[in-house]
This record gives sequence, C-alpha cells and structure tokens, in this order.
Amino acid sequence: MKRITLISGNENKIREIYLILKKYGIELEAFDLDIYEIQADNLEEIALYCAKQAFQILKKPIIIEDSGLFIEALNGFPGPYTSYAYKTIGNEGIIKLMKDQKNRSAMFKTVIAYKDQNIEKIFIGEVKGEISETIKGLGWGFDPIFIPRNHFKTYGEMSTEEKNEISHRSMAVHKFAEWYSNLLRNPSF
Ligand code: IMP
Repeated sequence: MKRITLISGNENKIREIYLILKKYGIELEAFDLDIYEIQADNLEEIALYCAKQAFQILKKPIIIEDSGLFIEALNGFPGPYTSYAYKTIGNEGIIKLMKDQKNRSAMFKTVIAYKDQNIEKIFIGEVKGEISETIKGLGWGFDPIFIPRNHFKTYGEMSTEEKNEISHRSMAVHKFAEWYSNLLRNPSF
C-alpha cells in the first residue's frame, strides 16, 4: 500500500487531498504539527522550510502544502499572507477592498513540498480567475469569493468533487501523486 503523511490540521485541505490521492491508491495520513511558519514573500520558500522542520521531527517522508490568493489589483495581496488576511479581514474585507475595482483578476496557488531523507521537491498548481462582486456559496476560506476562469460559480458554490476537478490544489496534488507513484515503483527514479 502506498502511503504519505500530510502535515496539516486543516480538515478542508485534508478532505480535498485525500479524495485525489485515493484515486492513485495512495493512503493519506494527516498529522497536525505545530511548526513555526517563516514569513517569506513566496509560498515555495515557506513550504520547503516547513517540510524540512516536519521531517526533522517525524523522520519519515512527508508533504506539506501552502496556498495563497494573489489579487492583481492589490499588487498580489494577500499572497503569502492569505491565512492572516482570512483571519483578520476575511471575505467581507476583500470584497470591500475590491469595491468599484474594474480589474478583478486573481490567482489561487498551491505549493506542495515533499521531503524525505534524500529528496526535497515542490509541486505547484495555479488557477487564474476573478474576485466575485459578492460572497457566494458556503465553501471554506476564500472559496466564496473566487470564480475560476471559464466558470460562472465561485469555488464556494461547488462540491468538493467539482472543485477538485479544476482547483489549484488538485493540480499540485495530481503532479505530486504521479511523481510519487513513479518513485515508489522505481526508487532510483
Ligand atoms: P495556508 O497558509 O496554506 O494554510 O492557507 C492560507 C489560507 O488561504 C487559509 O487559511 C484559507 O483561508 C485560504 N485558502 C487556502 N486554500 C484555499 C482554498 O482552496 N480555498 C479557499 N481558501 C483557501
């Protein structure tokens, strides 16, 4: 049985990732570690730093993921500060900041960092879209204000399965799952 440990206490992320890895026959074990998250201006640096710390503690292959919402008209804010922005201003705050803004382009990005004894590797998923005019749907985090390009609904109005068909996180997870399946089949890969 293929298995990987995800460092996260976020039930929503865990559910989304679990459903994708299941299709590859990869069993997901989630483990919530209190890791010190550095403040850096890119997700790659944050994810790798956290992965190294987690591996030091658990001494087994792990993945960790960091995601962010980048809004063009706000010069990429909240980006790596997405978690803080959600806790402080939330969806309402972003909608207010974007009031009367014509350019509503945004991007959701996920970086997955894998770490074992010998390998450090990252997998990236990005989805372009728009910030909606109002909060729509019940999804978690910024799901209710993000409309992926070529869609009419926010992530928040989609089921987990629908979101997983197209999301930034699912793109990164698929890349990881394909690579990891090959690694397990052929360890020198
Ligand atoms: P984290 O730092 O990767 O845990 O995520 C930062 C924040 O981004 C989370 O607290 C959520 O508010 C938000 N976020 C991350 N991924 C998603 C998503 O897929 N949908 C909605 N919000 C998300």
